[in-house]
Amino acid sequence: MIFQLLVAGQEPVTNQISTALMALLRHPSHLERLRAQPELLERAVEELLRYDSAFELTTWRFLAEDAELHGTRVPAGDSTIVSLCAANRDPQRFPDPDTLDFDRPVNPHLAFGHGIHFCPGAALARVELQIALGTLITRLPGLRLAVPDDQIEWIPAVLARGVNQLPVTFAARI
Ligand code: HEM
Repeated sequence: MIFQLLVAGQEPVTNQISTALMALLRHPSHLERLRAQPELLERAVEELLRYDSAFELTTWRFLAEDAELHGTRVPAGDSTIVSLCAANRDPQRFPDPDTLDFDRPVNPHLAFGHGIHFCPGAALARVELQIALGTLITRLPGLRLAVPDDQIEWIPAVLARGVNQLPVTFAARI
C-alpha cells in the first residue's frame, strides 16, 4: 500500500503540473488572468484537469458477470478500459468541450476517476497543483516557452502523460 501510494502519488502530480503548465503556456491570456486573479486558481485547476489529464485511461476492469454497455454485450471475464480524457471532452456533459474555460459553472470531470477506485490522493493532488501553479505564475512574470511548441517532447504513456522537459523563459523579477 505504501509503495502504491508513493508511486501513484508522485508521477501523476509531476505530469499533471507539466500538462497544466503546457495548457497555460498555450493560452497566454488565461495565464495572465490567473496572475491577476489568483482567487481563480481553485476553479482553474479543475478546468486544467478536465482539459488535459495525466491519466488518459483508467486501469483495466474485468466484468464479474455478463453486461450490456451502451448497446454492446460484454461477457463475464471480458475487460473494459474507460477513456477519462474522452469523457472529459464529452459535449453532452461539457458545452464547448475543447475550449479551456475557467468560468464553467459546473465541472464534473473524471480526471481522478470514479466509483470505488476514485483516486484517494485527489485532495492532496488538488492542493499540490494549486501551490505549484500559483507559485510559478506569481514568481515568474512573463513565463513562456523557450522553444517552439512542436519541439516539446511528450511522454506517450496513457497512465502518465506529460512532457520530458519543459524549457521556459521568464522576465527577471523586479
Ligand atoms: C494530479 C494528480 C493525480 C491524478 C490525475 C490521479 C488520477 C488517478 C485516477 C484517474 C485514478 C483511478 C484509476 C482507475 O480508475 O483505474 C487514480 C487512482 C489512484 N491514485 Fe491517483 N491521481 C493523482 C494523484 C495521486 C496522489 C497524490 C496519490 C497518493 C498520494 C494517488 C494515489 C492513487 C492510488 C493509490 C490509486 C489507486 C486507487 C484504487 O485502485 O482504489 N494519486 N488516480
